[in-house]
Amino acid sequence: MLDQKLKELREQMEQRLNQVDSREKLSAFWQDFLGKKGSIADLMKDLGTVSKEDRPAMGKVINEFKVQAEQRYQEYSERMEKLEMAARNRAEQVDITLPAKKHPTGNLHPITLVKNQIIDVFLGMGFEVFEGPEIEDDDHNFTRLNVPKDHPARDMQDTFYISEDVLLRTHTSPGQIRVMDMEKPPIKVLVPGRVFRSDSDATHSPMFHQMEGLVVDKGITLCDLQGMLDKFVKQIFDADVRTRLRPSYFPFTEPSVEVDVSCFECGGKGCSLCKHTGWIEVLGGGVVHQNVLRNCGIDPEVYSGFAFGIGIERITMLKYGINNMGLLFENDLRFLKQFKD
Ligand code: DAH
Repeated sequence: MLDQKLKELREQMEQRLNQVDSREKLSAFWQDFLGKKGSIADLMKDLGTVSKEDRPAMGKVINEFKVQAEQRYQEYSERMEKLEMAARNRAEQVDITLPAKKHPTGNLHPITLVKNQIIDVFLGMGFEVFEGPEIEDDDHNFTRLNVPKDHPARDMQDTFYISEDVLLRTHTSPGQIRVMDMEKPPIKVLVPGRVFRSDSDATHSPMFHQMEGLVVDKGITLCDLQGMLDKFVKQIFDADVRTRLRPSYFPFTEPSVEVDVSCFECGGKGCSLCKHTGWIEVLGGGVVHQNVLRNCGIDPEVYSGFAFGIGIERITMLKYGINNMGLLFENDLRFLKQFKD
C-alpha cells in the first residue's frame, strides 16, 4: 500500500515541479511535500501501520524519497534564482555607449572670488570679519565719521535716502564705528559689503562693493598701514609689486593717503593700463582721525589706528583685465563662466 502511495507521490512531485515558474509555487511545493503537514510527514505517520519487520526498510525508502524531494527543491530554488537574476539584469540593462549625463556646476562670481581672496590675505594677518547693515543712519554713515551735516565732503557721497536720517550706506566705513562701539582695542577688523551712491556711468555703478579695514592699538602709525598694504598687494597682484602713498583727503583720517601700486602689467615702465605713469591707484586709507576715536569712546592719547577702504570692483577689474564695469553686473554667463577654477 505504502509502496503504491510512494510511487504516486513521486509522479505527483515531478508534475508539480514541472509547473514551478515562481517563488510562490516553489514554496507551495515545499509546504505540500516537505512541510510539517506535507505528504512526506503523512507517509511517516502511515509507517505505524506497517508490520514491524517491514518498517525499517520502508522507513529507509521514505527517507530516501525525502532526501530526493529536498534535492529537487534545492535544484529548483537555484534555477529560480538564476531566472530572477536574468530578469533583473534584463530590466536594469544600461546602454554604456550613451553619452553621460552632465551635472553642470556653478562657480563663484568674480566679485565674490576677489572678496574671498582679500579676506584670506587679511585673515592670515589676524583680522576678523564684521558685516554691518546696508541700511544705515546718518550718524554712523557720516556724523560720527567726522562728516558733520553741511560738510562739503557729503557731496562726494550722495546716496539714496529712506528718510531724513536713514539711508543706504555710501561706504563700509560706518562698520568702523559699529566695531569700535562693541569692542575696545586692540582691534583688527575687515568689513566687506555692498555700498550705494546715486552715481551711474561707464565707471560708476549705483551699487558696488567695498572692503573696509581698521586697526586700532597702542602705537599704530602710517608705517603699519603701508607695511600691511604692501603685503596685501603682493599677494593679490604680484610678488614684485611695490606700493607708494600719495597725500589725499578723507574726513575720517588724518593724514589721509591714496595707495598706488607699481603697474603689474608693464613693471612700471608705462603702458595703457597705468596710463603711462607706471602706477595704478588701488585704495584709500590713513590714520584714524582723533575725532572718530573720541566719537567711539576711545582715548586718542592712548590709542591710534589706521583704516583703509578697498573698492572690490576696481581690484577685480585690475586683476583680471576687465575694461568694462558693466560686465560685473550684467550676469552674462559667457563672461561669468570664465572664472571657473
Ligand atoms: N570710505 C571711503 C570711500 O568710500 C574709502 C576710505 C578711505 C575708507 C579712507 C577708509 C579710509 O577707511 O581710511 O571713498
